[in-house]
Amino acid sequence: MKKIIYLLAITLAIGCYSCHCKTEPKAENAVPGMIKTKIPTRPAGQKDVVGLRCAPLDTVRVGFIGLGMRGPGAVYRFTQIEGTSVKALCDLYPERVEATQKILTDNNCPRAAAYSGEEGWKELCERDDIDLVYIVTPWLLHTPIAVYAMEHGKHVAIEVPAAMNLDECWQLVNTAEKTQRHCMMLENCVYDFFELTTLNMAQHGLFGEILHVEGSYIHNLEEFWHAYQGNWRLDFNEKYRGDVYATHGMGPACQLLDIHRGDKMNYLVAMDCKAVTGPEIVKKQTGRECPDFQNGDHTMTMIRTEKGKTLHIQHDVMNPRPYSRMYQLTGSEGFANKYPIEGYTFKADNTSLEGVPDHENLNMHTFVPQQVKTTLMEKYRHPIQKELEEKARKVGGHGGMDFIMDYRLVYCLRNGLPLDQDVYDAAEWSCLGDLTRLSIENNSMPVEVPDFTRGNWNKIQGYRHAMVEK
Ligand SMILES: NC(=O)c1ccc[n+]([C@@H]2O[C@H](COP(=O)([O-])OP(=O)(O)OC[C@H]3O[C@@H](n4cnc5c(N)ncnc54)[C@H](O)[C@@H]3O)[C@@H](O)[C@H]2O)c1
Repeated sequence: MKKIIYLLAITLAIGCYSCHCKTEPKAENAVPGMIKTKIPTRPAGQKDVVGLRCAPLDTVRVGFIGLGMRGPGAVYRFTQIEGTSVKALCDLYPERVEATQKILTDNNCPRAAAYSGEEGWKELCERDDIDLVYIVTPWLLHTPIAVYAMEHGKHVAIEVPAAMNLDECWQLVNTAEKTQRHCMMLENCVYDFFELTTLNMAQHGLFGEILHVEGSYIHNLEEFWHAYQGNWRLDFNEKYRGDVYATHGMGPACQLLDIHRGDKMNYLVAMDCKAVTGPEIVKKQTGRECPDFQNGDHTMTMIRTEKGKTLHIQHDVMNPRPYSRMYQLTGSEGFANKYPIEGYTFKADNTSLEGVPDHENLNMHTFVPQQVKTTLMEKYRHPIQKELEEKARKVGGHGGMDFIMDYRLVYCLRNGLPLDQDVYDAAEWSCLGDLTRLSIENNSMPVEVPDFTRGNWNKIQGYRHAMVEK
């Protein structure tokens, strides 16, 4: 038997080698077996929302749904942003609504209308004095509430991920296009200070052509699992394989690559390791054995774009690792890295006077010195950061990035500008859950990433934050 396997291996190896030598196949076109999912036809009369502008709002009247660990912080941040009015609050539990009213009154804002129970959110969405519905509920309620709110004429802001499967991604896209309402996912990590500065440096060409980007959500959630209402997060991980929380890595990476602003993701492959810690947590929390826990402890995804760029995304919320969103970019002229050490590297002239490369010169193999980094970061501080950093750090929310996110949402709505993140971003960054599951369940086969813009990914050239012209 051993001999047969050996002979088979040799034959295959020779076959592959000779095949490679003879045909030099062009992988992208020649490889059969890409999994493709259905792209629904855009309904007649419906138009895309690329660069959507809506009538400016003098005051952004908002209703919040979901007041658990994350929601009340958002309510507080809105009390610190000019031109907003919190009209309604909703949670499953009335006592959580009441506790959040105190945030309003402590910050000199009037109490808001209160809703609770399983379907209180419907009544909130039906109010006619609200412009924006801000959704901070467990994942499986994100899309149903967002669709209902848009159908009732509201703009929506949805915590991450906006959608939990492909069908929900398309529901968001179709409803935003049908109603011409803004649908923004609240991806806060694109507003962190290093990310904003690096994006600005990239847009000024410091890294040359950006070729490869990395991002992740590596966060040991050990101390949080028991605290999610009704155990929604662990339940979801128990049921689904794949990168179910990819958006913190995807957001900054996709903005660097101008995804659907000149490039698009074509396909991905994903792989996970077995689930070890997940089932242990189930056992610890419930006493129940869980041999069928679906979500692998560590999931890796690789994506290739139309313009030949690559993304590498990872997910691990189970194991004792230092927090990391990876955030790394490789360009033809430079490199940036955030975790565990922030740093930049640039191409340098490393040849000696005689034109012979100096092998002792390792300058371009390390990060630039701290002083150079500081000077660069000051020079390329993002205009948004310049304007908001002081207040953002004071109000807080993950060190200030949450405040910048909410501020930008309100700023764009008040000025009738396109939002920083549109519904296609929400779909592109959220669709990884379902697409990576498909790849993993099929031996890491390539899976096509659908073009959620349905042909309009090249309409805008380059990602930019919209600003009022001065
Ligand atoms: N962007 C970030 O950095 C970040 C950080 C934490 C959480 N989040 C996201 O925020 C969301 C909420 O997370 P969390 O940690 O606050 O979870 P949580 O379980 O603490 O809060 C969820 C809240 O929703 C309420 N809820 C449940 N069903 C409801 C219903 N039918 N109607 C109204 N309210 C209902 C619950 O009672 C609870 O108060 C999730 O989507 C999560 O991914 C994002």
